[in-house]
Amino acid sequence: MLNIVVCVSGGGTNLQAIIDNIENKNIRNTQIRGVICNNAGAYALKRAENAGIPAFCISPKVYGSREEFNQAFLQKLQELAPDLIVLAGFLVILPEQMTKLYENRIINIHPSLIPSFCGKGYYGLKVHEAALARGVKITGATVHFVDEGTDTGRIILQKAVEVLEDDTPESLQRRVMEQAEWVILPQAISQLASGGDL
Ligand code: GRF
Repeated sequence: MLNIVVCVSGGGTNLQAIIDNIENKNIRNTQIRGVICNNAGAYALKRAENAGIPAFCISPKVYGSREEFNQAFLQKLQELAPDLIVLAGFLVILPEQMTKLYENRIINIHPSLIPSFCGKGYYGLKVHEAALARGVKITGATVHFVDEGTDTGRIILQKAVEVLEDDTPESLQRRVMEQAEWVILPQAISQLASGGDL
């Protein structure tokens, strides 16, 4: 059994894709041990509740210092003891020691074809604004291992999505989520759960 913890900050549609794919057995031999969220108002928490998954809101805002947040976050992870940590729209800088503690056991979904439009400052809609500004005809999403850098870990899966003439950042984000993110994130977890090489 692959025990996973999913870290979220927003709407949780990637979390929902994982939940649904476990439900329909596209992802086997996997259970979500818990959801960690840094934003008390995130709809992702509702999705976890609806699915009966323990959810923990750990926000840097409620701790006196970043160090205290880091300790609380690492403590919760230790309690949940995941085999794999999935960052699904998690907008928090990870504690430095985390990538060492969980080396090759943290994956992230990024809404572009890395190495394009990634790194510091490229998240959410900003990624799609940059892709449209550059005039690329193809964009997509990437699942990669998380290392000490930003979006620099080994690439696991990618999926391309066409950019349409009349795309706005919002319409492009939606299509990249629907056609790429919600497909390759569950696929990567399924491959890891079946011991597949990535
Ligand atoms: C998505 O755009 C994803 O690409 C990025 O953050 C957003 C998360 O969306 N990592 P959701 O919370 O999974 O709906």
